[in-house]
Amino acid sequence: MGFPPISSLSFILFLFHFHSTISSSHFCAPHQSLSLLQFKESFSINSSASWNCHHPKTESWKEGTDCCLWDGVTCDLKTGHVTGLDLACSMLYGTLHSNSTLFSLHHLQKLHLSDNDFNFSHISSRFGQFSNLTLLNLNFSVFAGQVPSEITHLSKLVSLDLSDNDDLSLEPICFNKIVRNLTNLRELDLECVNMSLVAPNSLMNLSSSLSSLSLQYCGLQGKFPGNIFLLPNLESLDLSYNEGLTGSFPSSNLSNVLSDLSLSNTRISVYLENNLISNLKSLEYMFLRNCNIIRSDLTLLGNLTNLTYLDLSNNNFSSQIPSSFGNLVNLSYLDLSNNQLVGPIHSQLNTLSNLRNLYLSNNLFNGTIPSFLFALPSLQSLDLHNNNFIGNISEIQHDSLRFLDLSNNHLLGPIPSSIFKQENLTTLILASNSKLTGEISSSICKLRFLRVLDLSNNSLSGSIPLCLGSNMLLVLHLGMNNLQGTIPLTFSKDNSLEYLNLNGNELEGKIPPSIINCTILEVIDLGNNKIEDTFPSFLERLSELQILVLKSNKLQGFVKGPTAYNSFSKLRIFDISHNNFSGPLPTGYFNSLEAMMASDQNMIYMNATNYSSYAYSIEMTWKGVEIEFTKIRNTIRVLDLSNNNFTGEIPKVMGKLKGLQQLNLSHNSLTGHIQSSLGNLTNLESLDLSSNLLTGRIPTQLGGLTFLAILNLSHNQLEGPIPSGEQFNTFDASSFEGNLGLCGSQVLKKCYGDEAPSLSPSSFDEGDDSTLFGEGFGWKAVIVGYGCGFVFGVAMGYVVFRTKKPAWFLRMVEDKWNLQSKKTKKNVGRYVARRN
Ligand SMILES: *[C@@H]1O[C@H](CO)[C@@H](O)[C@H](O)[C@H]1NC(C)=O
Ligand SMILES: *[C@@H]1O[C@H](CO)[C@@H](O)[C@H](O)[C@H]1NC(C)=O
Ligand SMILES: *[C@@H]1O[C@H](CO)[C@@H](O)[C@H](O)[C@H]1NC(C)=O
Ligand SMILES: *[C@@H]1O[C@H](CO)[C@@H](O)[C@H](O)[C@H]1NC(C)=O
Ligand SMILES: *[C@@H]1O[C@H](CO)[C@@H](O)[C@H](O)[C@H]1NC(C)=O
Ligand SMILES: *[C@@H]1O[C@H](CO)[C@@H](O)[C@H](O)[C@H]1NC(C)=O
Ligand SMILES: *[C@@H]1O[C@H](CO)[C@@H](O)[C@H](O)[C@H]1NC(C)=O
Ligand SMILES: *[C@@H]1O[C@H](CO)[C@@H](O)[C@H](O)[C@H]1NC(C)=O
Ligand SMILES: *[C@@H]1O[C@H](CO)[C@@H](O)[C@H](O)[C@H]1NC(C)=O
Ligand SMILES: *[C@@H]1O[C@H](CO)[C@@H](O)[C@H](O)[C@H]1NC(C)=O
Ligand SMILES: *[C@@H]1O[C@H](CO)[C@@H](O)[C@H](O)[C@H]1NC(C)=O
Ligand SMILES: *[C@@H]1O[C@H](CO)[C@@H](O)[C@H](O)[C@H]1NC(C)=O
Repeated sequence: MGFPPISSLSFILFLFHFHSTISSSHFCAPHQSLSLLQFKESFSINSSASWNCHHPKTESWKEGTDCCLWDGVTCDLKTGHVTGLDLACSMLYGTLHSNSTLFSLHHLQKLHLSDNDFNFSHISSRFGQFSNLTLLNLNFSVFAGQVPSEITHLSKLVSLDLSDNDDLSLEPICFNKIVRNLTNLRELDLECVNMSLVAPNSLMNLSSSLSSLSLQYCGLQGKFPGNIFLLPNLESLDLSYNEGLTGSFPSSNLSNVLSDLSLSNTRISVYLENNLISNLKSLEYMFLRNCNIIRSDLTLLGNLTNLTYLDLSNNNFSSQIPSSFGNLVNLSYLDLSNNQLVGPIHSQLNTLSNLRNLYLSNNLFNGTIPSFLFALPSLQSLDLHNNNFIGNISEIQHDSLRFLDLSNNHLLGPIPSSIFKQENLTTLILASNSKLTGEISSSICKLRFLRVLDLSNNSLSGSIPLCLGSNMLLVLHLGMNNLQGTIPLTFSKDNSLEYLNLNGNELEGKIPPSIINCTILEVIDLGNNKIEDTFPSFLERLSELQILVLKSNKLQGFVKGPTAYNSFSKLRIFDISHNNFSGPLPTGYFNSLEAMMASDQNMIYMNATNYSSYAYSIEMTWKGVEIEFTKIRNTIRVLDLSNNNFTGEIPKVMGKLKGLQQLNLSHNSLTGHIQSSLGNLTNLESLDLSSNLLTGRIPTQLGGLTFLAILNLSHNQLEGPIPSGEQFNTFDASSFEGNLGLCGSQVLKKCYGDEAPSLSPSSFDEGDDSTLFGEGFGWKAVIVGYGCGFVFGVAMGYVVFRTKKPAWFLRMVEDKWNLQSKKTKKNVGRYVARRN
């Protein structure tokens, strides 16, 4: 039976309603239905297979119905051939094999499979058999392996998108054939496809019909052919994140329809001069982040009045913002961060009423923050962190803000109440302004979408608003303020908090037991308060906890535990120093501190898991020196039980904690011998057992601790020879003073001879610190005999100290991530987190 000649919409609707009764009038040939159904069956529907959208189209495909009416299927109405298949975001999960029935749909002209999970399938050479294909989109679908050369048979292709897969590569021969044979191409997107072997010169032969070329993150290297830019129809060119690309961008003869240009993170020279500017008048998107910009006259950019996105971040611009920027009235996104721009911001940006994202962080701007910035009607993201802004924060005139970071300036006064009217605010960071005063208004409870709240390092007073335990916060940092009262937070079930820092306030009362409702909590820092409680052993049930700092409070009693299997198994920093704990050392816990028994291979900074651009920071003591670590490497492992009244012996099991870099048991009442098993702690850089009641000899095994930079065994009752060994010979008398009968060259006392002459404690003044740590470390430190340990720590890169210009590198919000980041499925966790 032939196909009905009618192709009107009403007839299709008619069919749709009555197809079951007139099953013989299918448009769709049975073999096509079968192929499609088998294709459907070869995958599972899996909600984590699609990220950006979710349309499980194949679910509507039913045997016995007309496949031309199925979701995502298009047929030629005359022939009934399936000519289009659009299964983007269809949640398909599984391998796309070469024997797939997909390849029997010979007549396909458009095939769209983006945003599924084909589980590292290779792209089958059979794709080359779709001889009439004009569109092939395999974007973001977890394909891997080499792009088959048969792709080049698809000479009718107008649009080819293989971007954002996890592990695809393109051989030079194949790419050259694509360039030569696909003469109808208008769009070519190979973002994230590994093309590191392809010579940039081969791009010269690209079809002159090309209107869009995206080669982000392709690993291209070498000199880029200037001619590429002369493609007459080119509207969009993205070469960003090919760090090895050199050459220069032509200033003339450019396509006059170019509207989107991205050269970020390449070494292609860009001459910002009249010629170039007059050729770029139609530009709407310009991304020149971290570029090789030469003769940089920012004023000229004011002529590109059609610009909506402008990214000039991470360059060396050092002027003021030119007044010509006031002409860029279409701008919705302006990123000038990480330059050396100076001066107060006058009215240059006053006219930019479409601005949604403004990033000016890490510059040298000064003066007050102009109030017109807070009156921009569409502003959603404002980042001014790390500048020299002074004065009060003005009231915000509208309520569109989602992201606000004013940290590391010199702002003062109260937090304006209008901030709490920004109903969509997700991130509020006002940290490190020192002089923000007043109370944290309970209006903050109205911010239902707040994920990150960081008001640390200010002079805020009053109590902590109750609601902060019950909203959606991932990060709560109120440390280093003058907050008073109890910790009133009642953490509700399914709390998403990952980071809780209340260090350095005047908080009293007990540690709220409801913290255990925060099941994904990774950091608790309640140090330097006036908390009166016993050891909160219920915290051991927080299986993700990595950092627990309770030091300098009024905690007392025995540290008993564990009560559960795997207690504190992920803990890498455990600091309960400077409290009144007593009784034996918590030997039971030492047995379950698994993270301290291992060491990480990959050094990464510890960031919030679900907001990965937020780097964790904590306060730590390094023998009398209080430091805020603004970034923490995951390799750091610290156990500090000092300045309590622990009694009894050091248990042998401590030798299991092989990952430890710092162990501090000083200023307790420990007795017995130093366990030779401590010689197994081969990663130790700092060992402090001073001011205890330890007796006996120093185990020779300690001589094998080759990383040890700091050793303090002073003020015990040790005797006998100090072990020899390269490392031990570097310690001076201060490491051993105040013991009964130690002998050795370090204490200038021959063994079997008389007692060593007593030495006065060594001390370093602040001048010494600055030479030890170099310029820029503005913190005040009084170090007693521990100087080189810091240097060692810095050199090993475990931590980054708070500097005069503190490194508070909160990196950015959704738009930025969308536009600039490598988007593959492996990376997508972060991607999604930032979109929230
Ligand atoms: C769903 O997909 C994810 C990856 O996207 C995979 O890890 C998981 O095993 C899949 N689940 C099922 C039931 O196939
Ligand atoms: C297709 O090939 C794969 C692997 O080669 C095999 O596991 C599968 O059974 C085949 N499917 C069909 C329908 O032949
Ligand atoms: C490809 O298109 C041509 C011209 O439209 C047509 O004649 C031919 O049958 C098509 N081939 C297939 C396999 O659909
Ligand atoms: C180029 O395309 C034609 C079809 O137009 C095809 O026959 C030929 O094999 C292709 N050449 C290469 C090198 O792929
Ligand atoms: C830029 O604009 C200024 C003033 O509007 C004009 O004098 C100048 O010629 C323009 N330059 C270019 C390259 O268009
Ligand atoms: C700027 O945009 C407007 C509106 O889209 C358009 O009419 C005009 O041609 C553009 N200017 C240039 C120089 O491309
Ligand atoms: C801003 O800094 C410049 C030096 O870069 C200085 O000359 C100027 O006085 C400062 N202005 C204000 C308002 O602090
Ligand atoms: C808050 O976000 C919602 C959803 O995106 C939007 O509809 C609403 O207009 C936003 N509110 C404001 C004040 O911008
Ligand atoms: C955990 O949260 C629930 C409900 O939000 C609450 O009833 C419970 O008391 C909390 N747990 C603790 C230990 O406070
Ligand atoms: C430490 O504990 C011991 C034994 O419980 C006790 O005798 C001693 O007084 C305590 N020392 C301090 C400073 O509290
Ligand atoms: C210390 O290491 C040695 C040799 O590897 C081993 O025999 C011993 O059991 C270890 N001691 C502890 C407490 O881990
Ligand atoms: C962690 O945060 C730091 C600083 O904010 C940032 O530079 C880094 O890229 C982040 N790391 C990850 C894995 O996102």
